[in-house]
Amino acid sequence: MTRTVPVPQGLPMERNAGPFDPPREISLLREARPVSPMLFPDGHEGWLVTGYEAVRQLMADTRFSSRQDIGVIHVPYETPGMPAATEPSPQMPGLFIAMDPPDHTRLRRKLTGAFTVKRMRMLEEQIIAVTERQLDELARLTPPVDLVKEFALPVPSLVICELLGVPYADRENFQVNSAQFMVRDQTLEQKVVAIGAMNAYLAELVTQKRADPGDDILSDLARHDDLTIEELTGAAFLLLLAGHETTANMLSLGTFALLEHPEQLAELRANPDLLPDAVEELMRYLSVADIFFRYATEDIELGGETIPAGSTVVVSLLAANRDPQRFDNPDTLDVHRKARGHLSFGHGIHQCLGQQLARIEMRAGFDGLLRRFPTLELAVPADEVELKTDMNIYGVHELPVTWAEKAG
Ligand code: HEM
Repeated sequence: MTRTVPVPQGLPMERNAGPFDPPREISLLREARPVSPMLFPDGHEGWLVTGYEAVRQLMADTRFSSRQDIGVIHVPYETPGMPAATEPSPQMPGLFIAMDPPDHTRLRRKLTGAFTVKRMRMLEEQIIAVTERQLDELARLTPPVDLVKEFALPVPSLVICELLGVPYADRENFQVNSAQFMVRDQTLEQKVVAIGAMNAYLAELVTQKRADPGDDILSDLARHDDLTIEELTGAAFLLLLAGHETTANMLSLGTFALLEHPEQLAELRANPDLLPDAVEELMRYLSVADIFFRYATEDIELGGETIPAGSTVVVSLLAANRDPQRFDNPDTLDVHRKARGHLSFGHGIHQCLGQQLARIEMRAGFDGLLRRFPTLELAVPADEVELKTDMNIYGVHELPVTWAEKAG
């Protein structure tokens, strides 16, 4: 049933219901009109989809083009200086998250073998070893420390660098540039400069790999003669970015959420077998990669509304994952919940390629951290933790933590 609610003017982003919950306006909208018109800051009309069923249906429907979704970069509309789009954006070569079939299929197919459940299981020991080494280093530090800098960011960065064959020593380059273009209200020029710098670095790297391939995923990709250097660069860009930003935010925001739910944390510590379910629940509850864009290529019926051809459609995965029609007590973090079926890795043909890798990293990360730091706690009041409300992937900028010495 549709109740009358005001059309949102721009995307509500303020976390006014708490650091882990969707903005209040989003929750109200989902209840009243899960597929709703919205007005973009540049004045053009589009749609905002917040209901679980509608989001799932939309992501499975390739009539909703991904050619407006620059994935985690989100160039459209929020970016000052970005012109209103009336048609799908030009494609950036290799960036298959923002492509439709058959271009998307051609590129993704070349990578699926590298990210299968089986391949990832074979890497599990290595990922655990990387995690434990990082925890050794953490234990050597004198608290308080910033958990983002010392643990949550290094672990996924080390792992994805190793897999892709990107020298970890060059991390300054891609961590700084990616942090730059994840800031939502950067100007278009600033984003272009940051993307350009990262592309220049990666173009050189993949050119070397094509000439002298090694034993890593980018070298395997470079062996495909039908891929241009530009496509290789774009694919490397996507993998490197998606491979470290998202998981890093899950590790740090997930730790913050657990510390703020001490009874849940205690249950998890008492029963580590809960960890796989707890990871799925944290994924659902936090939905760090929340906002995605689609573009209607024809008139499409969705949730009782008709989305006209040419519309820009914004999807909130966080809102969908908190839909009471799908999950009981959705705003409660419950490590016992069977949260599989959440949409935090997306759905349909673009469903996260790295999800098995991310799961292994998160299980190893939370397991190691909780086991080796039994007295871990925040080193500042919770309301002083700086939230990434200004970024396209949600998380915390820093997580100051402390522990009783002798841990680790
Ligand atoms: C796609 C979330 C980790 C690589 C996606 C999508 C989501 C997502 C929601 C779908 C985007 C869309 O439909 O437009 C996450 C989260 C992660 C994570 C929450 C961590 C907790 C990773 C990792 C990798 C990765 C570790 C490693 C390479 C990708 C790629 C795509 C993708 C390549 C594009 C797939 C396609 O377009 O076919 N991710 N991701 N992600 N993710 Fe992840």
